[in-house]
Amino acid sequence: MKFCFIFSMTKSGGRPRSVPIRLRYFFLFATVFGGGLLLISFNSRIDFFLLNNGPSNAFWDANHYKIVNSEESFTINTEGCTIPGLRPFDESIRKFSDLPDSAEVCNNANQSLLQNNKTHIWVITENMQYYNVPDEDNITCCYRAFYRPAAIADINANDVDERIQYGRCIDFSDYIEIENEFVKVSCKYKYRIIYEQFFLTARKKSPVFFTEDSMETEQNISRYNVLIMGIDAVSRLNFYRTMPKTLNYLKKKGAIEFLGYNKVGDNTFPNLTPMLLGIKYTDLKNTCWPNSRASFDHCPFIWNWYKDVGYYTAFGEDNAGLGTFNYGKLGFTGTPTDYYIHTFMYESELHVGNQKDFNTYICIGDKYLYKVLLDYIEGLTVELKSDNFFGFFWEATMTHDYLHYPKIMDDDYEIFLENLDNNKYLDQTILILLSDHGIRWGDIRFTKQGRLEERLPLFHILLPPSFRETYSLAYNNMKTNRRRLTTPFDVHATLLDLINLNELDNERIKRRSNEYYASDRSISLFLPIPTNRTCKTAEIADHWCTCHKSHRVPTDSIEGQEAALHLEQHLNKLLHDYPQCAQLQVTEIIEMIQMDAGTPDQGEVGWEEFMVVVRTKPGGAVFEATLRHDYDEWVLAGTVSRLNLYGEQSRCVHHYQLKLYCYCQ
Ligand SMILES: *[C@@H]1O[C@H](CO)[C@@H](O)[C@H](O)[C@H]1NC(C)=O
Ligand SMILES: *[C@@H]1O[C@H](CO)[C@@H](O)[C@H](O)[C@H]1NC(C)=O
Ligand SMILES: *[C@@H]1O[C@H](CO)[C@@H](O)[C@H](O)[C@H]1NC(C)=O
Ligand SMILES: *[C@@H]1O[C@H](CO)[C@@H](O)[C@H](O)[C@H]1NC(C)=O
Ligand SMILES: *[C@@H]1O[C@H](CO)[C@@H](O)[C@H](O)[C@H]1NC(C)=O
Repeated sequence: MKFCFIFSMTKSGGRPRSVPIRLRYFFLFATVFGGGLLLISFNSRIDFFLLNNGPSNAFWDANHYKIVNSEESFTINTEGCTIPGLRPFDESIRKFSDLPDSAEVCNNANQSLLQNNKTHIWVITENMQYYNVPDEDNITCCYRAFYRPAAIADINANDVDERIQYGRCIDFSDYIEIENEFVKVSCKYKYRIIYEQFFLTARKKSPVFFTEDSMETEQNISRYNVLIMGIDAVSRLNFYRTMPKTLNYLKKKGAIEFLGYNKVGDNTFPNLTPMLLGIKYTDLKNTCWPNSRASFDHCPFIWNWYKDVGYYTAFGEDNAGLGTFNYGKLGFTGTPTDYYIHTFMYESELHVGNQKDFNTYICIGDKYLYKVLLDYIEGLTVELKSDNFFGFFWEATMTHDYLHYPKIMDDDYEIFLENLDNNKYLDQTILILLSDHGIRWGDIRFTKQGRLEERLPLFHILLPPSFRETYSLAYNNMKTNRRRLTTPFDVHATLLDLINLNELDNERIKRRSNEYYASDRSISLFLPIPTNRTCKTAEIADHWCTCHKSHRVPTDSIEGQEAALHLEQHLNKLLHDYPQCAQLQVTEIIEMIQMDAGTPDQGEVGWEEFMVVVRTKPGGAVFEATLRHDYDEWVLAGTVSRLNLYGEQSRCVHHYQLKLYCYCQ
């Protein structure tokens, strides 16, 4: 198999855009010289086609040359990796997305006895009736701050990360000012506790964790905040299905979406270890985590590097039970970051956690945990507006076990982003929204698309305008990498680059791009990811690899005949309304290739995918198409490409797509 480029020209005479397309028997070379475009096709014989006479010719219309719409046929299509095109609302998975929009409602959702804003907590007297308190009566609420006390002696205790200490009780019956990060309020009526709730508030702290010399190493260039917002178990396309508003907001702001972002391990831990530490989780035992009885205190997390250059750091998950470093593990003995909310999540889940169907509570009292986290993050961005901030946050409560619950979060995530934008926070912040994998279980996993989606998590990066301008080469490389094979290891390399922005200067990027790194496991997304990267060089195990391998199928096989017939019917249907175009007939199946993507899971239903190249008459057109065989049906995936030129054959139609197919009679 060989690969090369077809150039399509824009009408304005701008630079050619290169569109890589996959070619079999045909090797096409496009060269531009003297304003003319020469396209040469090598088969067993050699054909020359002169496409035009000069750049002034109106024939230079982009669409005339748009032979292949790789967007639809492939998710990514590089020399080293081809991932089939996937549609968010594909027939095979539509039934899983037509699920209700509603979720479990938190306890007392409309009957909350306490309300808060960023500065105060108050009693909602109108709701006292729900707790059998007469209107004219008073309740007494006790406000108690709680803390994570300094590391205790027995650091090997199982609950070392769950240690907690309460402050004294401050009574109030109407409202109270919030003075602490973690607060518990319990309200009594007639000596009985009738209501309890926990409040998490962002508060500015003194940066006690910075090392002595960290301030000295500070450079005189403005840095960017780095805000990573993780959403557990949401595939790239489930994000399309369930959080369209957030997606559109990101797109509107010019976020870069990585289509070929492939997971490297099963669940959260093995995917976040490469991202946060740059190593495989199996290598932890050799570096910083000798056994599962050890804490993660000595691991070189990426936030430590940020801390060293003067950033405030935060690590926050919206639950304690599924905590990435706590689930079946010890967590941290010390406090890993300046802001660390495990203590809060643990204590609030314990007392007021509710709505736990599977693995995690989704509410504390009347509040969704994801919303508690979002409000906290927003609070931090306000409190730390004039400081450098690195935050790694992870939502799991709504998404770990539910395919469609992300829908419930969509409005709030959109509003969250809008607020950050309105506060000008996005002007100084690299925002990363990503997931670890798609949903790992449920009916959708018994479809082929579901299996691929599970391995292709969502991943978007939003760079501020000033960054795009100053680091234009790095930015352009990142855009190119949208359609390259990428992994969580690359995220780590990218985060390292953001610590030292000098690494991203155009001159430096130019030099680094020429250095040999193509076989590296971790490649910064600010450098061009090599097109020949494979799962092997990226160290993605075969089982998780979504790149399709392919093998040739005899052209006279039943599948070959059926696929060719379907393609013929499809083309003739397209031409049906154009009597000036001849009906086409396949005269030769030139090639038939079956695409494999790993071993299907047991009982998995879904399509087999074939790429077929045929010649038709009249006119001798050569078409390439990808077709899926689903039960007894053949379905076209993407559009049909034409591999040779139509020249004058199609002069009688003007529709750009039909020009590829029409033979004027
Ligand atoms: C809570 O109130 C909202 C709006 O006021 C309403 O749509 C919703 O149905 C109520 N939920 C419950 C559980 O009463
Ligand atoms: C929060 O609520 C209190 C009491 O109602 C009010 O005085 C204060 O202005 C509010 N603060 C904000 C930031 O809205
Ligand atoms: C309720 O509290 C107010 C203000 O603290 C007080 O004046 C009033 O007497 C109290 N009412 C009762 C029934 O305790
Ligand atoms: C840092 O940059 C500012 C503005 O570019 C300049 O005024 C200042 O002198 C610089 N400080 C140092 C220590 O180089
Ligand atoms: C990928 O391309 C680079 C640069 O052309 C080359 O050095 C490297 O050997 C190639 N790697 C593979 C796996 O083909």
